[in-house]
Amino acid sequence: MAEDKKNYKEILEYQDKYVMHTYSADLLMVKGKGSYVWDSANRKYLDFSTGISVCNLGHCHPAVTRAIKEQAAKLVHVSNLYMNEKQPQLAAKLVEKGFDGFVFLANSGAEANEGMIKLARKWGSAKGRFEIIVMEESFHGRTLATLAATGRSKYRAGFSPDMPGFIHVPFNDVSAIEKKISDKTCAVMLEPVQGEGGIIPAKQDYLKDVRKLCDKHGILLMYDEVQCGMGRTGTFFAWQGYGVQPDALSMAKALGNGFPIGAFMVKRELGSVLGAGTHASTFGGTPLACAAALAVVEAFDSENILENCVKQSEFLMSGLSKLAKKNKCVREVRGKGLLIGVVLDKPANELRKIASSKGLLVLTCGETVLRLLPPLNVSRKEAEEALDIIDESLKQLQESPNAK
Ligand SMILES: Cc1ncc(COP(=O)(O)O)c(C=O)c1O
Repeated sequence: MAEDKKNYKEILEYQDKYVMHTYSADLLMVKGKGSYVWDSANRKYLDFSTGISVCNLGHCHPAVTRAIKEQAAKLVHVSNLYMNEKQPQLAAKLVEKGFDGFVFLANSGAEANEGMIKLARKWGSAKGRFEIIVMEESFHGRTLATLAATGRSKYRAGFSPDMPGFIHVPFNDVSAIEKKISDKTCAVMLEPVQGEGGIIPAKQDYLKDVRKLCDKHGILLMYDEVQCGMGRTGTFFAWQGYGVQPDALSMAKALGNGFPIGAFMVKRELGSVLGAGTHASTFGGTPLACAAALAVVEAFDSENILENCVKQSEFLMSGLSKLAKKNKCVREVRGKGLLIGVVLDKPANELRKIASSKGLLVLTCGETVLRLLPPLNVSRKEAEEALDIIDESLKQLQESPNAK
């Protein structure tokens, strides 16, 4: 048996026997560079899934790898009972990107959102306000509080009772929020572009009107930018594309380009809501994680990442719109920046599998939406390669017996 096949078989066996069956993966990935990954049979894939909007600078970005190596040799971890050099430097860099305030460092999107939810409750506690208005079809994470905040009911199934204090309303409908505001409401929380919910951007006026509503009632506006932030929609913070600033926001995923790190930020006036001892995380903001994230944020300045994101977004959106005209199974192409959804009238998972067999990794969200998350530094040539594969895959999908 060839060495790679033997290795694959052994890993599969271990995976099946020892790893909890919460995921269903079949490809074994062994190497990544830039926009490409390679599997155990040395097949090369153009990666338009980027670890679900994590490797936004491509795989093994040299500056991030260098920063991790250097910091790993110097100081990996100290508890937050001590300062480390990298944490305040990272916080300052994030603030410099256009949100004046304070940063709390965590390890994942769910943990960042949990912190932000705690901030809202603590802020509202003196006035007896604890309810947070959240959106239908939203996704905020898998912990119990973030699951209760999540609008997509399939993720909550089987884990009831939901943690109380979250009220779901339809997205992009400001009057639905207004109807639910009461003297118990402390905040509104939403994704500026819904990711898992089907790549649905907020309407421009919607965010403006929600901001006005929150100000009128004296409640917080909080954005979950875990998926849509960090340049994904063409601005560093997704809200900058709308010009509507929140009171707090969360991020994670792409912040470390693959090194686990999350964060939430609050505007300066809210800086003392979570005082000493009210919130903490053992691993939050280690020098190693912060060194990786610092290298990521610095790359945005030195490598014109946002410019490229906007340019390649235009190219891909217009290419996909042309494919939509040619293929009647495509209903709509939507999104913002390089967070792109292709809405089909056939199962998106079938198209995902076909594309993967042709060397392009993409994702789905919901039953019928293909989700494209290219690296933000994707080249024009790579974008053309992806469009060619999607074109061929759509043709094959039309003929597939599994795509009824
Ligand atoms: C918008 C949003 N919020 C939160 C999360 C949860 O992040 P994590 O998986 O890092 O906990 C995700 C993950 O997909 C997400 O897309």
